[in-house]
Amino acid sequence: MLIKKPSDIKPSEITPESVYRSRRQFLNDGSKLLLGAAAGAMPGIANAQNRGGLKAPAPAGVPRPEAASWWADKFADIKPAPDAEPYFTGEIITPYEDVTRYNNFYEFGMDKSDPSSNSGEYKADPWSVEIAGEVARPGNYNLEDILKPHALEERIYRLRCVEAWSMVIPWIGFPLADLIKQFEPTSKAKYVEFETLVDPDTMPGIRSRFAIVKWPYREGLRMDEAMNPLTFMAVGLYGDVLPAQNGAPMRLVVPWKYGFKSIKSIVKINFRETMPNTTWNDLQAQEYGFFANVNPAVHHPRWRQDTERRLPQTLFSRSRIDTRLFNGYADQVASLYQGMDLARYY
Ligand code: MTE
Repeated sequence: MLIKKPSDIKPSEITPESVYRSRRQFLNDGSKLLLGAAAGAMPGIANAQNRGGLKAPAPAGVPRPEAASWWADKFADIKPAPDAEPYFTGEIITPYEDVTRYNNFYEFGMDKSDPSSNSGEYKADPWSVEIAGEVARPGNYNLEDILKPHALEERIYRLRCVEAWSMVIPWIGFPLADLIKQFEPTSKAKYVEFETLVDPDTMPGIRSRFAIVKWPYREGLRMDEAMNPLTFMAVGLYGDVLPAQNGAPMRLVVPWKYGFKSIKSIVKINFRETMPNTTWNDLQAQEYGFFANVNPAVHHPRWRQDTERRLPQTLFSRSRIDTRLFNGYADQVASLYQGMDLARYY
C-alpha cells in the first residue's frame, strides 16, 4: 500500500523489476522478444500449450512450489475457466513472472520484490485453520480436511490494487460460499473475519522495526459478500499451488474490491454478529474503508481512482486503462449495495 503519494515516487520505485527488465531486453534485442512475450501472455496462445485444458497453465521452466502428494491429486483435476465473463476475461493475462514478483505481502517486507525475495524460509505445510464464532462446527481443521470436499476450478479475474495498478490472474480454488456452508454458520453470523499467520521466524516483515501493521493482518466481509459466487478461496495460480508470496496455502480473492481485501495465508475464519476491525481501516480509516469496492468515482484522498496501470507495461499493452465500477463486476455485485451511498461507505 502506498504511504507516499504517487507524485512523490520515482519511476524506478513504481516500475516492477520484471517490467524494467523486459523493457531493457526489448531495447537490446529488438521487437522479436517482445512479440514472443506478448504472444505468451495471450489467453488464446496459452491455450495451445494447455495442460489438462486449463486456460493458463504455468509456463514451462518456472520453478514450481513444493506440494504434498494429496495436493498433487487435487491439482490433477481442475475444471478450466469457462469462456465467458465473469469467471473469465479475454484481457491479456499478466505473465507468471509479474504475478509472482510484484506483490504486496507486508509480512515479508514493504517493497514489491520483498515477498518473493524474503519468503524462502516460509512453510505452508503442515497448515491448519481455526474456524470460530457463530458456527455449528467450530474447531481446528487441517488443510486437507478443509479442502477435501471441494473440487478445484480455474478463474481468470482482474485484480485492482488501491494503489491504482492492476493485473489479470488465473487463480485456482473454489467458491468461499462452499467453505462457509461446510461449517454451518448460525443465523447470528452477519460477517466473516479472516486472519493471516503471524510467524516472526519465517516472515521478516513481522520482525522489522519499520513495520506499520499491527499483526495479524485482518480482513472481513459482510456475509452476503462472502456468499457471492464471485468470492473465491484461492489455493493456486497458473495451474499450480500458490507460491508463498501470493498467500500460500490459501488466500481470499474478492475481485470487485481493492486488493487489500484479498487476505493471504489464512489461519483463522471467524463468524461474527458485528462488523470486524480490518487492518487498513484501522491504520488509516479516512483512506481505506471496510467495503473497499473498486469505484472510479470515489477517489483516494491522495490520488485519483478513475484509471489504473495494467501490468506489465509493454509496447503492445496500453498500460493506462480506465477503472470500472466494481472492477467490471457490477452485473454480479451492484445489487449487494443497493441504496447505499458508496462515497460514504467506501
Ligand atoms: N494479505 C496479507 N496477509 N498481507 C498483506 O500485506 N496485501 C494485500 C492483499 N493481501 C496483503 C494481503 C494487498 S494490498 C494486495 S494488492 C494483494 O494482497 C496483492 O496480492 P498479490 O500479491 O497476490 O497480487
